[in-house]
Amino acid sequence: MAFATKMTVPGVRARKGGKALTCVTAYDAPTAALLDEAGVDLVLVGDSVGNVVLGYESTIPVTMDEMVHHVRAVRRGMSRALLIADMPFLSYQPGTEEAIRNAGRFLKEGAEAVKLEGGPEVAGTVAALVAAGIPVMGHVGLMPQRLRLLGGPRSQGRDAASAAGIWRGARALERAGVFAIVLESVPSELARRVTRDCAVPTVGIGAGPFCDGQVLVFHDLVGLTASPPPFAKAWGRGRLEFRRALAGYRRDVESGRWPSARGGADLPVAELAELDAMIRDLGDKA
Ligand code: KIV
Repeated sequence: MAFATKMTVPGVRARKGGKALTCVTAYDAPTAALLDEAGVDLVLVGDSVGNVVLGYESTIPVTMDEMVHHVRAVRRGMSRALLIADMPFLSYQPGTEEAIRNAGRFLKEGAEAVKLEGGPEVAGTVAALVAAGIPVMGHVGLMPQRLRLLGGPRSQGRDAASAAGIWRGARALERAGVFAIVLESVPSELARRVTRDCAVPTVGIGAGPFCDGQVLVFHDLVGLTASPPPFAKAWGRGRLEFRRALAGYRRDVESGRWPSARGGADLPVAELAELDAMIRDLGDKA
């Protein structure tokens, strides 16, 4: 199936209340190509690259340089979906100037929008980025960059006051000019209200069915994650398939079943005779 239409920021906005948006993370070119082929709308180079592929315990150590490396790779692999780059910890909090420099760097490297975590406290930064021509996706609810404050990846908005804080944060982001908002690990009835009251699409992760779209980490959805988060669903058995393939490779190499004698590009008989003569000659001189 061909999905020819290029996804754009206005295209994302236009999906408010319409067909659900699909967003998936990617960190490399072949995965990005798969997502593009599958017709996914948004490809997020998430700072989850830190814990998903770089072996960090959280997203906190991820740097701008690491993110740029992965954004470049993803850009090379895809063209149709909208490419969103996640602003890593401390790449936008120090101030507006730094935020514009870093977000602008992502756009120069091929991202089409950036995502950053926070509510009213980042609204000024969001407005400045948008004024500079940089589309911004917001992110409220569980904000993994604040893991140390929260004491762990806990779901958020579990009482009326904190739920109202998240609702207020989403509205502040909307006023500041975001084109979409990620709602992470919040009750579905809160997500329903944010979705109802914000004019821009909400994209949920662990936020129930009432958002305008959903986002998942690629490795979770294809079954590659050893301990996926409880809200994730795997539509494939990636770990099982990879284990099977690796066991098959090892079995066939160790038993001599692969590669076959005809597996390599063999030399013509005349070339082989000449090679043997040369080796004999070289051997005498070595
Ligand atoms: O970094 C990430 O992958 C994310 C998504 C899970 C929303 O922020």
